[in-house]
Amino acid sequence: MKEIALQLSQQFAQTSIEETLTFLNKQYKGNIAFSTSFGQEDQVISHYIFNSNLDIKVFTLDTGRLFEETYKVFEKTIQKYNKSIICYYPQKDLVEKMMSEKGPFSFYESVENRKECCNIRKVLPLKRALKDVKVWITGLRASQSDARKDLDLFQYDESFDLIKYNPLLYWSLEETMEFIKNNDIPYNKLFDQGFVSIGCQPCTRAIKPGEDFRAGRWWWEDNSKKECGLHAPEQLNTNLTINTKKIN
Ligand code: ADX
Ligand code: SF4
Repeated sequence: MKEIALQLSQQFAQTSIEETLTFLNKQYKGNIAFSTSFGQEDQVISHYIFNSNLDIKVFTLDTGRLFEETYKVFEKTIQKYNKSIICYYPQKDLVEKMMSEKGPFSFYESVENRKECCNIRKVLPLKRALKDVKVWITGLRASQSDARKDLDLFQYDESFDLIKYNPLLYWSLEETMEFIKNNDIPYNKLFDQGFVSIGCQPCTRAIKPGEDFRAGRWWWEDNSKKECGLHAPEQLNTNLTINTKKIN
């Protein structure tokens, strides 16, 4: 599959996103999906998919800890395009156990606890969402972080054994926002308050001028640890050890 990804990256390097999506939709019918967290990049991709009436599954992972503003973008999007977005939820017994044993803010306590929460609320639901999927479309951009700067347009993802397509890989944040404004696409109002990369409410803060794009995500952790496991295979640890230490 690595070779197919490489070949697709070369074949579609100069092709428009609409044409590429149309080709993939035909080629991988029923086995292609797009994950949206309703971020700026995701809103652009949803626009392309919904406007072209493509048969691509669009899904979101509702962690249960999202901002109210994120649900508002969700609502505006399904209204604007008159399309459905499939929701995946964490397994209730795992959330019940984690919350009962560790309380609602265990993720601030240690990287291990934070990864446990991300595993339960995001990674495991993502695994279900990607079952039978051969092409996974994401809103990753190269300039979002050092870890993302060397990604390819099409990439073999070992952890999920599929091809990932990152249509906005080479877009800047400015180009993304310009496209949103020009096409009257709904976007998260938190963006205007400095929230450029938006995840769960307790783990996201606004960034200050000059700060790194992802500085507002898991801001209390080392830069090197700041991936939740969706896009960082080494964090796909589903060994969910429960420790009973509480926050003071
Ligand atoms: S994360 O790994 O740090 O959470 P980020 O927020 O940058 O990821 O988003 C990158 C891409 O991951 C998004 O464009 C989207 O494709 C996917 N993604 C992230 N969070 C979610 C979510 N809650 N539901 C669906 N897709 C998501
Ligand atoms: Fe849990 Fe925070 Fe990860 Fe959301 S981002 S799943 S609240 S640790």
